[in-house]
Amino acid sequence: MERWSPDSWRSKPRCQMPDYPDPAKLAEVERRLAAYPPLVFAGEARRLEAVLAKVAAGEAFILQGGDCAESFSAFQPDVIRDTFRVLLQMAVVLTFGGATPVVKMGRMAGQFAKPRSSPTETVDGVALPSYRGDIVNGFEFDAASRVPDPERMIQAYNQSAATLNLLRAFAQGGYADLHKVHQWNMGFVARSPQGERYREMADRLDEALAFVAACGITGETSSQIRETDFFTAHEALLLPYEEALTRIDSTTGHPYGVSAHFLWIGDRTRQLDGAHIEYVRGIYNPIGIKCGPSIDPDDLLRLIDRVNPLNRPGRLTLISRMGADQVADKLTPLIRAVRREGRTVVWVCDPMHGNTIKSSNGFKTRPFDRILAEVRGFFAVCGAEEVHPGGVHFEMTGQDVTECTGGAQAITDHKLSQRYHTACDPRLNASQSLELAFLIAEGLKQARLARSESGRLALAG
Ligand code: PEP
Ligand code: CO
Repeated sequence: MERWSPDSWRSKPRCQMPDYPDPAKLAEVERRLAAYPPLVFAGEARRLEAVLAKVAAGEAFILQGGDCAESFSAFQPDVIRDTFRVLLQMAVVLTFGGATPVVKMGRMAGQFAKPRSSPTETVDGVALPSYRGDIVNGFEFDAASRVPDPERMIQAYNQSAATLNLLRAFAQGGYADLHKVHQWNMGFVARSPQGERYREMADRLDEALAFVAACGITGETSSQIRETDFFTAHEALLLPYEEALTRIDSTTGHPYGVSAHFLWIGDRTRQLDGAHIEYVRGIYNPIGIKCGPSIDPDDLLRLIDRVNPLNRPGRLTLISRMGADQVADKLTPLIRAVRREGRTVVWVCDPMHGNTIKSSNGFKTRPFDRILAEVRGFFAVCGAEEVHPGGVHFEMTGQDVTECTGGAQAITDHKLSQRYHTACDPRLNASQSLELAFLIAEGLKQARLARSESGRLALAG
């Protein structure tokens, strides 16, 4: 294999990255970023890899969620808090209902760059370059704001730093204390059927906490009750930014991407010999690869070889996003090939990106029942192939948006225009997210029962 360096991606075919009109300005921004403090530490990324190795062994479950695209205009503490809070609610539903430790990861504090299906967008006969996320260009449909501006990387870095600072405070500073489960149930969610179901579960959790407290385990004696680990993740798409935020860890001497704990490669940029795979193969963070319906098992095995040649457990997470109709047909051969070759990976389901449609009135949307159907399909395939369903990856927000149709609020095509706020893909709102969590908890419970049943049968031999 050729030598890797943080900039070796530059000699590879690239796609989905902007052509900056002013290369000197780009180089100047890269130099500034390269001198900035890291957003995460290598030791944290290593800890995450160790936790993901547990997921690979079937002992934990990943909950990865957040915006499709963070934006400069929605940068507000309440927005961050509400997304974090809903992730906590979901995690507690999974931990309690599914009796499984949950690894919490936000598509937050750095999820800014977007791949697009078309390089241009046409409105009323006017064609302009597509919006590629706030880290690249502006959302407004005018020629000036669509010009890629390197200075936006600095703003994205600063917003990521402030977001991460708040997330760390929430995770470790008391907000995530399990004694607060009732207080996480707020606003429109609390009044929904899911909110009611959540309240019943939180009552039972309170009883369990009172019981363990009587046994001597409290927030004072056990940090797991008082605080939580929360990791950040985003698509490693804009490589000039990622390269500038690559550092050598002084403990191990290995390079790490320090823009987030976990970086993934999207379905459109996972070419074996392309720039994006070249970049991630050399950094030591845990890596994700999105797997859409066009990937074939042999391609996948070659990618695994490239990104995880030493077969390190926890290093590689494969995020299946096949669409509800194709998950059985497309995921099954991938799982079989990976198992046949003895590769250790984590399997995660993204039930969003394969189920995007245009509504009757022109909105990009996702029917909630298709999302649930893909999650069910994923659990069914994993069950049939006897691999651990390792997690879910989805686009959500803590706000009461109307972007995905269906769910308990029965959002129709007609209602989409009421609160359609996403800068890119449609997200689950807080109540739809909670509804999804209850479904997953059920799936986890079934998977656990199936495992103990097969264990019992094996013992009975
Ligand atoms: C995304 O996660 O926002 C995305 C673009 O996904 P994919 O690469 O799976 O299409
Ligand atoms: Co998206």
